[in-house]
Formats: sequence, structure tokens, C-alpha cells
Amino acid sequence: MRLRRSLAFRLTAAYSLAGLMLVLLGTASLYMVLRTELDRSTDLFLADKLHVLRTILRDRPEDEDALREEIELETAARRYQRFYIRLVDEQGRPVLTTPGMAEKLDIAELVRRTQGRPEHSISMVGNHGQPFRVTGATALVGAPPMGTDTIQVAVDTSQEEELLRRYRLWFWGILLATSVLFPMVGYRTARHGIRPVEEIAATARKITSTNLRERIQAEGYPSELESLAGTFNEMLDRLEESFERISRFSADIAHDLRTPVNNIRGEAEVALARARTVEEYREVLESSLEEAVRLSDLIGDLLFLARAESPLTELRLLKVEVNELLGTVRDYYDATAADAGISLVHANRNGPDRNGVDGNGPLTAELDRSLMLRAVSNLVSNAIAHTPPGGTVKLAAGAEGDAIRIDVADTGTGIPAEALPKVFDRFFRVDPSRCKSSGGTGLGLAIVQSIMTLHGGTVQITSELGRGTMVTLRIHITAMS
Ligand SMILES: Nc1ncnc2c1ncn2[C@@H]1O[C@H](COP(=O)(O)OP(=O)(O)O)[C@@H](O)[C@H]1O
Ligand SMILES: [Mg+2]
Repeated sequence: MRLRRSLAFRLTAAYSLAGLMLVLLGTASLYMVLRTELDRSTDLFLADKLHVLRTILRDRPEDEDALREEIELETAARRYQRFYIRLVDEQGRPVLTTPGMAEKLDIAELVRRTQGRPEHSISMVGNHGQPFRVTGATALVGAPPMGTDTIQVAVDTSQEEELLRRYRLWFWGILLATSVLFPMVGYRTARHGIRPVEEIAATARKITSTNLRERIQAEGYPSELESLAGTFNEMLDRLEESFERISRFSADIAHDLRTPVNNIRGEAEVALARARTVEEYREVLESSLEEAVRLSDLIGDLLFLARAESPLTELRLLKVEVNELLGTVRDYYDATAADAGISLVHANRNGPDRNGVDGNGPLTAELDRSLMLRAVSNLVSNAIAHTPPGGTVKLAAGAEGDAIRIDVADTGTGIPAEALPKVFDRFFRVDPSRCKSSGGTGLGLAIVQSIMTLHGGTVQITSELGRGTMVTLRIHITAMS
């Protein structure tokens, strides 16, 4: 049953059926028209003959010659469409008959069939099987009438029948030819139209995760399939891009994991090369510990990102006072900022207020507290890392419509405009060599972004080179206390 479900088969069947119906209808109606026209012309001929004879009988009843000529001679001179006339008087005696009429036609039947149906033409079969068309009528003899004769006329319609027979033959021939031709043409057309679909399928079959290069060449496709092919190609573009991103990501992970491991290994190998003092061993252990911490931070970040992307991740939402949260972050980074010679301030939107007590009053939102702490901490640690001594890092929160907004602004180095769109990418660092020393993994902002996505919020960054950077987090207040 595969064939019946094939599109090419269905199209061909529909096309052939429609074509055949059309041919059938056309030829059949032509045949009908031809047939009625032939009958009509025969009937006209019969009527004409009756009229001539009636005229002669009425106007010149004594003119036997004219009658004889009309009945006996003229008809005999015709090769085709021979006609026969019989004239009968009131007493039922035949007056004149076309020679040979009795031989061609059964006169008794002719009389019987034309009786009582004046001037009505009827089909009749002759003695030798030829088709005839016959009619009968009465005619007044002389004026004023001296009597009433009966005229019977018969026309041989073999020629017409032959014409119709040939036509029917043609008709069947054409029908046969079209019933062969239509399916052939239809099938070819359908196959041709469907071929692009098969090509698309073939391309799709060739696609694997390592071979995303394949594209469909849609030139010359019907427009519907061209758009399908275009959509398909666009999908492949997207897939290829995300596969590339993933493989770049894994390469980055491998690289970032290798560096600390290599460091630990190198130091251990050097330390083991000869005997060391306790002090030297301590140094090696301390440096190894540092690298181990780096490694475990990196792995922690990676695990965090992987979990955050899982659809199963659930937030532990609590009512959180945002200024209290910012205060916690500020307190945590207080010492670090002081060491770096940076002043870390927490300001309300309506003016500086360390504890957020005045200004807008309490700003409460349903948040996952530890995740938000992590997001803001990442921003503050970035700000401190990229701000030279003497600079300022400012934390602020405020209401904005039905959203809460948290700003972390610094007066640091800023980010070049061309790098700005990429800072949320994993492992992206504006200056990798410089940032390595600051301990960044390049995952900080990616984590901030995924935390905001989990909260249904947004993160936005603006920066001016040499002037400073500001990151804004926005979260809708799901439930205000
Ligand atoms: N406040 C900032 N000022 C200047 N540059 C920044 C700031 N925050 C982030 N960046 C740039 O964006 C990069 C990505 O940041 P992040 O994802 O936190 O990675 P990391 O801090 O581990 O390098 C940083 O390497 C840095 O180049
Ligand atoms: Mg960072």
C-alpha cells in the first residue's frame, strides 16, 4: 500500500482522472451535437420534400409529369442520401412510388408506423439493414380540394450513420491514447515536482554531529520547496553554530583544567627531584593548594552552570529584602576592597544610605537568596578586580515599575565596545593574560546571566573605556510583602 500513499501516485491519479473526464466530456458532447445536427438536417430534408409535393398536388393536380419527375426521377439520380416517396390516394391505392422502394423497405410497416403521426419523422430499418428515416403526411389535391392524398417519404441515412460510426471510432481512439498519455505525463510531472523533497531527505540523512556542513542547493526548486529548503538550511546553520560553540566550550574547559594540573605536577616533580627542606615542601604544598582551589572553583562553576541549565533546576524562593542582601555582599567584600584601595559603597537609589533604611523603604522580592548573593558577588568581584586603587564600586537597589533593579557600578578600566556583547559568553575574557592573575575563570558573568534567567529576570551591561562599568540586574517582583 506504499504506492497508494505516495504523493506522486496521488497527483498522477488525480491529474489523469481529471484529464480523462475532460476528454470524455468534450468528445461526448461533440458527438451529441453532431448527432442532433445530422438528425435535424435529415428532418429538414424530409419536410422540404413534403412541402414540394404538397405544392405540386395543390397547385397542379393534373400535372402528372411534374409529380413523376419529382418522385420517380429526381430521387433516382441521387447517389447519396437516396430517398423514396410513395403517394397514396384516398382509397388507399398507390398513385406513384419511387422505383425500388418496395425492395428496400417493408411498405406495410412503413404505412403502419407513419399512420396517425403526421409530419413526425421516425427511424426505421430497411429490408437490407440500412437505416432509414421516414415520415408521412396528408396533402390536399387541387384548390379547392378535390381529395386528400397521403405522402410517405423515406430517406436512407446510411451516410450519416457511417459518419457517426467513424466518429465513435475516433472517440475511443482518443480515449485510449489519453488514458495512456495522461498518466505518463502526470507521473513525470509529479516525480519532477517531488524530487526536491527526496533531495532534502538525502541531505538530512547525510547530516551527523561531525558533518553539519551539508546544505541543500535549492536552485530551480518550486517556490514552496525553496522556502522549505531555506528553512532547513537555516536550521543547519543554527545547529552548526551551536555545535561549534559547544566544541569550543569543551576545548576551553580542557585548557583551563590543564593549566592548574600542569602547575601542580611541575612543582611536585621539581620538588621531588632532590631532597628539600621542610620550608621548601611547605611552599610547594601551599602553591599546590592554591592551584587546587582554583581547580575546584572552576569545576564548581562548571557544575553550577550545567545544573542551572537543566530544566529540573528549582529555585528556593524566599522573601528577600534586597538592600539587606546588598549589605551582606558589601560586608563580605569590605576587606578585599580596602586592601585594593577601593571604596565600596552601598547606596539607595534616592541617595547614599549604607543600610537602605530610608529612601524607598524596604524592597522585598521573592528570590533564591543564595543564588542572588552569588550573582551580586560575581559582579562586585569583577568590579573590584578591574578598578584601580582610589576608585569606587557602588551598589544600589531600587524599584522600577513592577521590577526591582540592582546596579553594580565601578570607576574602573571599562570594557571595549567590541568586547561588550561577548562578556556573558563562557570563558570570555577581554584580556586573558591579565585576568589569569586575577583568578577569573571567565565564567562569572555567564553564571550571573543564568541566575537571572532562572529568576525570569535580565542582566544588562554598559561600559565606557577608562571611565567604568555598570551592570544592572532586573527582576520582576512576583510577590511583594
Ligand atoms: N567591572 C568590569 N570592568 C571591566 N571589565 C570587566 C568587568 N566585569 C567583567 N569584565 C570583563 O569581562 C570578562 C568576563 O568576566 P567574567 O565572566 O566575570 O570572567 P572573569 O571575571 O572570570 O574573567 C572579564 O574577564 C573582564 O575582561
Ligand atoms: Mg568574574
